[in-house]
Amino acid sequence: MTARPWIAVAAATFSSLAITVTLPASAQSSPQPKLRIGFMLPYSGTYTALGVAIENGFKLHVDELGGKLGGREIEYIKVDDESDPSKATDNVNKLIKRDNVDVIVGTVHSGVVMAMAKAAKESGTVLIVPNGGANAVTGTMCAQNIFRSSFSNWQPAYAMGEVAGKQGKKKAITITWKYAAGDEMVAGFKEGFEKAGGQVAKQITVPFPNVEFQALLTEIAAAKPDVVYSFFAGGGAVKFVKDYAAAGLNKTIPLVGPGFLTDGTLEAQGEAAQGMLTTLHYADGLNTPRDTSFRAAYAKSFKLQPDVYAVQGYDAAQMLAIGLAAVKGDIGKKAEFAGAIEKAKIDSPRGTFAVGKSHNPVQDIYLRKVDGKENRMVSVAIKGLADPARGCRM
Ligand code: PHB
Repeated sequence: MTARPWIAVAAATFSSLAITVTLPASAQSSPQPKLRIGFMLPYSGTYTALGVAIENGFKLHVDELGGKLGGREIEYIKVDDESDPSKATDNVNKLIKRDNVDVIVGTVHSGVVMAMAKAAKESGTVLIVPNGGANAVTGTMCAQNIFRSSFSNWQPAYAMGEVAGKQGKKKAITITWKYAAGDEMVAGFKEGFEKAGGQVAKQITVPFPNVEFQALLTEIAAAKPDVVYSFFAGGGAVKFVKDYAAAGLNKTIPLVGPGFLTDGTLEAQGEAAQGMLTTLHYADGLNTPRDTSFRAAYAKSFKLQPDVYAVQGYDAAQMLAIGLAAVKGDIGKKAEFAGAIEKAKIDSPRGTFAVGKSHNPVQDIYLRKVDGKENRMVSVAIKGLADPARGCRM
């Protein structure tokens, strides 16, 4: 043996001895620090109810697991993003740089989510998106540390286009808020509708979060399309569906949309929404044991019926729990964490789904019909629909 390996062996032996001797026994078994989860959600404005439902759903699953994920206790840090893209970069950087969170959960608004995805990609912080459908988040911006428990804007929109086209509707007018979610949900509808033989005659937009619809409803009435397709959500959806009915249009031109138009809003929309058809990855009346037990638990905890947003929050917690269990709480093990979620079948109240390589759910899209206070499942409009994930290179 030459001298050098000898030194290496001696050094290795010495250092391992030194570790055994100097580390107090308690340090070896000491619990990991709390896992810091940053909720960046709308707690004010038109999407407030959506943010609250997401947080409720998330916490419900954490409670079911005894308050721990991957063996770690949880600390929550909350930021109100106000659904304001101009504040999004500052808000997300507060969580990443000031609060040093391990995971970010958020948000609802597609424009805000884009800024969050950019910051997450740059910093490597794990981001789980429990709503915001911006296609790019699991498309051109896809990344190992970014996951979505909800949908891409394309998914429910494309399905509604296909359904309306197959119903024989020929001429559609679309109306939505002018921002990424509205644009993409109209584009998805148009793609499905035109493939099935329809044509979008006019695309109307209003600035987000405006709810002044009168002049636009007059314009729609005059154009006499076969169908009106619309994306609004939260408070805006309540106002639009009520205004549409108040103008008498629901008697002559069916109003359809992605299910956000009537989800979590039926209490307030009442008579105005009856009979409406929408497409979404969740529905009332699924009647599976999984959904029934979720609904009972949610109603017991929050004295409210869950909606799609609550399900997405719940599933965000399920995905995080699966990833963390695989790495025993060490979220720094990025590849193992991501690999576990990529391989998982998420046992969602909506039905089981997998996220695939782009990290967006591959899921059934239901056709639903409003009946009283429920978005009752009519059929599965498209089974196992995957977003095209255009531009995603992992
Ligand atoms: C979005 O901005 O991506 C968004 C907002 C509310 C919804 C759905 C999508 O209900």
